[in-house]
Amino acid sequence: MRKIDIFDTTLRDGEQSAGINLNTAEKVEIAKQLERLGVTIIEAGFPASSPGDLEAVSLIAKTVKNSIVTGLARAVKSDIDAVWEAIRHAEQPHVHTFIATSPIHMEYKLKKNPDEVIEQAVTAVKYAKEKFSLVEFSAEDGFRSDKEFLVRICQEVIKAGATTINIPDTVGYASPQEYGALFRYLRENVIGAEKIKFSAHCHDDLGMAVANSMAAIENGADQVECTINGLGERAGNAALEEIGVALHIRKDFYGVETGLNLKEIKRTSQMVSRLTNVVIQPNKAVVGKNAFAHESGIHQDGVLKNPETYEIISPALIGEDDIPLVLGKHSGRAAFRDRAETMGFQLSDEKLNKAFAEFKKLADRKKEVTEEDLTTILTEQQVSI
Ligand code: KIV
Ligand code: ZN
Repeated sequence: MRKIDIFDTTLRDGEQSAGINLNTAEKVEIAKQLERLGVTIIEAGFPASSPGDLEAVSLIAKTVKNSIVTGLARAVKSDIDAVWEAIRHAEQPHVHTFIATSPIHMEYKLKKNPDEVIEQAVTAVKYAKEKFSLVEFSAEDGFRSDKEFLVRICQEVIKAGATTINIPDTVGYASPQEYGALFRYLRENVIGAEKIKFSAHCHDDLGMAVANSMAAIENGADQVECTINGLGERAGNAALEEIGVALHIRKDFYGVETGLNLKEIKRTSQMVSRLTNVVIQPNKAVVGKNAFAHESGIHQDGVLKNPETYEIISPALIGEDDIPLVLGKHSGRAAFRDRAETMGFQLSDEKLNKAFAEFKKLADRKKEVTEEDLTTILTEQQVSI
């Protein structure tokens, strides 16, 4: 089965989220957990950006053994040197260097013409290749770049020694169809494409980061760049847990494997939420508090008869305990009886019906009925004559 590399950038792009600031010890703790999760590559930081980042990337590179560790570098020698200083002792030294390729970035941000940008990219990749065995080149704002220019720059950096080329949707502007088509186009038109891996890197400004990443995979991307809980610049990056679980659950459709140890998903998500102080929205796919919570009577009845009626992911897959059925005003008799029996109450049908009626009255007044409420209702019926 085709292997998709999972490139985790929680500690770099994820840390670029407004309000997040992780210290070195916290970064190492997260990196060790990402290693347990089985990610292929950990982007541990941007060493040239601060001495603290350099120190963290260096410590992570010394600590992590089963994932490749990389650092970000602009396409300039001093940034590449900073990554080298941090990870020179790694078994497979990897650097991630980038320069913007879209017209708006080249004209206003870089103030360079396309030929100058190609020259800078090639110089950086050649320089990196003298030190690192693995060199990833990113064409920043790749999705909004001219396709023919992308082909040119890809060909030049391949000749210079790049082993992976990343085409980011830096501002989250792509639609899945367009982003997928771009990967297909580059695969088919870049001379030397068969020698390198293509990578997708999506931002979520229009809520399509995961869908776009999946479209890239369908169209020949070998690697996806993502973050735990979808953290990242502005609206965030593609969420690792969603991509990992979707590729697993829909193996029939995507036909790829990632090497992720999905049982570590929940633990990783909780750890990142705790250390970054970013609360996970309750209805967040896969890791939200409500991702496995069934409330309506019809759904609860179905799940009690066969969980697969309404559950395409089993909580155990991601290392989550079984979630008790939520008891609220939409819940039905089946879920109520199930919970009463789990709590040790054996009531006749008549008493159970009375208790259920009491429960419904209470559920109309309260958002969620607690175990204490249930104990009170059920005990009253149990002792009543
Ligand atoms: O979004 C982006 O373009 C990036 C690059 C540095 C890869 O994060
Ligand atoms: Zn990014």
